[in-house]
This record gives sequence, structure tokens and C-alpha cells, in this order.
Amino acid sequence: MPPTQTTNKDHWTSKAYNTSASFVPKLTSTVVSYLDAQPTDTVLDIGCGDGPLTAQIAAAAQLGRVVGLDASPSMISSAQADYAHSKHPNLAFRVADCTKLSKEAPDVLNGSWDKVFSNAAYHWILRNPETRRDVFVDAFNALKPGGALVFEMGGAGNVAEVRSTIIAALVIHGIPLDEVRAADPWFFPSEKWMATTLEDVGFNVEKVELEYRPTKLTGDDEGGLDGWVRLFGAQLLEKVNELKRAEVVKWVVEVLRSSCRREEDGSWWIGYVRLRAVAKKP
Ligand code: BEZ
Repeated sequence: MPPTQTTNKDHWTSKAYNTSASFVPKLTSTVVSYLDAQPTDTVLDIGCGDGPLTAQIAAAAQLGRVVGLDASPSMISSAQADYAHSKHPNLAFRVADCTKLSKEAPDVLNGSWDKVFSNAAYHWILRNPETRRDVFVDAFNALKPGGALVFEMGGAGNVAEVRSTIIAALVIHGIPLDEVRAADPWFFPSEKWMATTLEDVGFNVEKVELEYRPTKLTGDDEGGLDGWVRLFGAQLLEKVNELKRAEVVKWVVEVLRSSCRREEDGSWWIGYVRLRAVAKKP
């Protein structure tokens, strides 16, 4: 959901997200079941986007408090409009870059939260190797003793066909490979990397799992693969001007027709790999 790591530009609008990625908040039943929100829970949602899942959690934690944080001002203002504090008194949203919470929202790192949650956000937030460990230190510091960090993100091999094809397209269109790699906005770790990092920060790791989950994109009328590439690949596509960008996207979609288009109904599918974890603060 929430990138800002390579540039400060806000690539997100709720409208674009809900057109090309409307399936994302719908595929969350497993991580939500791991969160197991209790009526009095306090929950911090990292990279909440425009908030539908945060609001779902707040409905379960009715007597508690739920705060959603996201780096995108556009997504947070949609969340605040859709889930007004007057109608959802236990729910609040704030703009904060979750790669540096100790600077942007130090008050939330107060050791008081029952749960820290994140869905489909950490692969953007962990993009910069230099701040990766700090992101988990922040989650650790936010939690009360016995509290749980519960999250889902892209894991090793996630969307590999699309990522590789966008990289190849940019190289073919004249951008050096090391420049393209430097603009790659994602980090998709293995279970081993994740378990080691969480343990190193001090968590007791209860679960780290990887699931291959081919995912059907929206239909061509609502964006399809073209819309997905433009929305999620925005930071990579910025390496070329708008004219070349249209060519690059067309090339990517044509190449991926071989592996992502289903013959029977013309639907587009991408190889999502989910990494889910549950880790407790001792
Ligand atoms: C994901 O949720 O795994 C994801 C979404 C967009 C781009 C890359 C990964």
C-alpha cells in the first residue's frame, strides 16, 4: 500500500488504488485471523492505506483503540473521510512515514499497544536496507510486553514475472540495469531472513510462513494488468518520460500475455507470494 521510500512524491490516490487493486483488502482473511483482534485491543496499523482493513479491525476492537499510519497524505485523507472519527470513535488515522517512526510519530513508540499489524505494506517500507531493522525495532518498542506483531507482505519470489519484465523493458528502452535496480521499490524477503531479523530485534517468533497465491487482477475495463503496472510500478516507470512510459507499459503487457493471461476467459493473473508472521514481545 504505502510507498515513499525512493522519492517523496505521493504516488497514491484512493481512486486509482480501488480501481486497479480492489482485490487487495479482500484477500486478508488469514492475516486477520492471526491478528485475532479482541474487543479491548489497542492496535497500530502500519501502512494502512485508505483504511478499509483498519476499520474492519476497529469494528472488532470496539472497546479499544485503533490507529492507522500511512506515508501517503492522499490515502490518509480518504481514510479520514470514509471513516470519520465521529462515527468511529475508537479509530484514527495519521500521516507518518513508517520507515522513520521515531522521528515522525515518536509518541506511538510507547510500549502500550496490544498489537502492531500490517498488511501489504512492509515490502515498500522495508525497501531501504539501511532502515530495515529500525522498522522492526519501532514495532517492538510500540508493543507492550506480551504484545504481538502480526503482518502479511510480499515474500521471496513475489510478483516475479511482472517485476522482471518491467526491469527488462526499462533496460531495453535504454536505462542502465543498475539505475533500474536502484529505483526498484520493493523488498520481498525469505522466511529465513524474516525469522532471523525478528529474533535479532528481540521478538519470540511464533510463525513465519510463505504461501504462493496466484491472484486474479481486475478486468481490463477496471485497469487489468496495464493498470497494475502503472499504479504499482510507478517508481520504476518514472525512469522514462511519459511518451516512452506508454511504450514500456505496452511492451510489458504484451510480453506478460504469454504467462499471465488465461485462455478460457481472458483474465489476468499474477504470482503473488505472501509472507505472514506472528511475533511476540517477551
Ligand atoms: C503485494 O501486495 O505483494 C504487492 C503489491 C503491489 C506491488 C508489489 C507487491
